Amino acid sequence: MNGDHIIEEKKQGQALVTEHIKGNHKKLFIESYGCQMNLNDSEIVASILAKQGFNTTKRLEEADLVLVNTCSIRDKAEQTVRKRLQYYNKIKEINPSMKVGVLGCMAERLKAKFLEEEKIVDLVVGPDAYRDLPNLVEEVEAGRDAVNVILSKEETYGDVSPVRLNSNGVTAFVSITRGCDNMCTFCVVPFTRGRERSRDPKSILKEIQELADKNFKEVTLLGQNVDSYLWYGGGLKKDFSKASEIAQATAVNFAQLLDMCAIAFPKMRFRFSTSNPQDMTLDVIHTMAKHNNICKYIHLPVQSGSTRMLEKMNRQHTREEYIELVDNIYKIIPDIALSQDMIAGFCGETEEDHQQTLSLMEYVKYDFGFMFAYSERPGTLAEKRMEDDVPLEIKKRRLAEIIDLQQEHSLYRTKQHVGNIEEVLIEGTSKKSDAHWKGRNTQNTVVVFPKENYKIGDFVNVNIEDCTSTTLIGKAVGYSENQ
Ligand code: SAH
Ligand code: F3S
Repeated sequence: MNGDHIIEEKKQGQALVTEHIKGNHKKLFIESYGCQMNLNDSEIVASILAKQGFNTTKRLEEADLVLVNTCSIRDKAEQTVRKRLQYYNKIKEINPSMKVGVLGCMAERLKAKFLEEEKIVDLVVGPDAYRDLPNLVEEVEAGRDAVNVILSKEETYGDVSPVRLNSNGVTAFVSITRGCDNMCTFCVVPFTRGRERSRDPKSILKEIQELADKNFKEVTLLGQNVDSYLWYGGGLKKDFSKASEIAQATAVNFAQLLDMCAIAFPKMRFRFSTSNPQDMTLDVIHTMAKHNNICKYIHLPVQSGSTRMLEKMNRQHTREEYIELVDNIYKIIPDIALSQDMIAGFCGETEEDHQQTLSLMEYVKYDFGFMFAYSERPGTLAEKRMEDDVPLEIKKRRLAEIIDLQQEHSLYRTKQHVGNIEEVLIEGTSKKSDAHWKGRNTQNTVVVFPKENYKIGDFVNVNIEDCTSTTLIGKAVGYSENQ
């Protein structure tokens, strides 16, 4: 999702900072683990707390309030946060008045138990309760513990303008849905993020306008399951059938939302994440094909190449249906990039199932992949009803095979770009060389090239001369039409 081919559980969160607001005297240290949605939520939290007198800081030692936005997706993600809390404990020795709050999925999952299990924690706030932070922080400042983990049917933070944290000033995330109704049997998200609801397109367009006014060039529309977006005046997705006839007739789906965005902001580049194959329609693909400013990249997690496993996972499609979707996508947009999420060693997975995953990968030849060993999560259907019976060693071996194959395919895909001239949006300095810019092409592949006189935010045409499995290397040959 972020251009890296393989995501490991982050060892360190991302400490987030923004411009200082005059007159604000309290210091907030906020860091984010896990998905892009968390990062975007942290921006919403920083915005809410900026109104309460907080400026962000990069230094834990001087923070009045420390907030950690957490991830529950795999056990390792939770362990990382626990270790981080131990580190806060040490910092507390030099900064005894600092208060510590836990946000996000672990907060929702563990609720008040967190206060007992981790003595350092003063505040526990779930993903739908950030609007209550001013009151909760007041409680904590008065020396009391505070918890709000109520999930909401409506909350989308539609009217909160996120402050952009650690921003490159070029690319930004805009949330369009919250929660997930899909109930994949392995996944904790429906329990920590609640039922699915969509955000009013007007407030989405308004947020994009604000970004355009600040000269941002690329927006990623975010949700656990963006293709399932449905606005019919508010309310849960699952209650759509109960809505009035007028509300149903005038509803806006994801393809329509994409179309609206692309037309309203012809200079803005759009991406979206994540697409669940079962909810992706050909309308979405046609809309992508119609607009140059919608990037030709789809993150299309499949989890397994075996229909038997897909069924156990409660994914609502077979291997054959997925292949049909992929065929259609390649037919409509031949130069599209696709990426996958895979889980190795889900309950009952046999060697034959695993081979099916590898053969599906051979068929699709994904550009990128995010691959994980199955990690049983408390409260999920898989935990309650199935046995986590694939030994760790086998999970690891299968995962390694999946990762190796993905690396081969990634190289196969990057090689296809060599010799092309491709449009790249410059996002910042290359990690490896101060003399080079890095940006991404429409397929989301990272491109590096000498800086010359170009600057961050420019759209340039780059002649691709070389590649690794993760990066294209080239030389700019001028500004692109979009500039
Ligand atoms: N639709 C979401 C999916 C969230 S979870 C999105 O925004 O990407 C991201 C990925 O984590 C899933 O696609 C799946 O591959 C992986 N995952 C989820 N639960 C898992 C578990 N219990 N063990 C291992 N991997 C898991
Ligand atoms: Fe999780 Fe499946 Fe939703 S992976 S986020 S339950 S689409």
